[in-house]
Amino acid sequence: MSEKLDQLEAEARENHVPVMQKAGMEFLKEYLREHPGIMRILEAGTAVGWSAMEMASVRENITIDTLEIDPQMAEQARKNIAEAGLSDRIFVHETDAAYYSTAKYYDLFFVDAAKSQYRRYVRHFLPFSYVGSVFIFDNLNFHGIVDNPSLSANRSTVQMAAKILAFREWLLANDMFETEFLPDTGDGVAVAVRVK
Ligand SMILES: C[S@@+](CC[C@H](N)C(=O)[O-])C[C@H]1O[C@@H](n2cnc3c(N)ncnc32)[C@H](O)[C@@H]1O
Repeated sequence: MSEKLDQLEAEARENHVPVMQKAGMEFLKEYLREHPGIMRILEAGTAVGWSAMEMASVRENITIDTLEIDPQMAEQARKNIAEAGLSDRIFVHETDAAYYSTAKYYDLFFVDAAKSQYRRYVRHFLPFSYVGSVFIFDNLNFHGIVDNPSLSANRSTVQMAAKILAFREWLLANDMFETEFLPDTGDGVAVAVRVK
């Protein structure tokens, strides 16, 4: 399994698919190991299925619904997941994460889709969470540009970084969550535990 995952990761990076940074993924897997009660995961942003498969590799009792807006990505992810024999635990839903609907509750939400939409996803996912559910967000540094906008000369990139900063500040000030921001983990990861 781990060889297959390494190969998929290498292919994804070669094809410029923006999969999670290695250190961020190691952190996420360690978090899952340390929290054996986490079994039901909702992921926003499947890409080729690599992060979902990495999370599923931690324990056999983990099941994942993963949401992907791009039909080609969703198809590729389904293929990769089937080849790894994980189709009975990882379910790819081709949808905009902000419109996903379910009667399920999730122990953990891994939010890694459109960076400008994170606040919207949180609001949308809240009914599928409970006090104690965990939300993990990736790319809160946006390659350093959030804290140092002069790193980019591209106006839309700088605007995106400003939105991510606004989200970070909103999350840290939100008393519905106890949030820890880990700026040095991967591309900036936040762990927010719902406390209300
Ligand atoms: C950063 S990549 C996900 C990487 C993946 N989690 C991994 O580490 O292997 C973001 C993905 O989110 C998808 N996406 C963007 N906006 C979305 C939305 N509104 N709903 C669902 N997926 C979305 C993109 O098509 C892209 O495949």
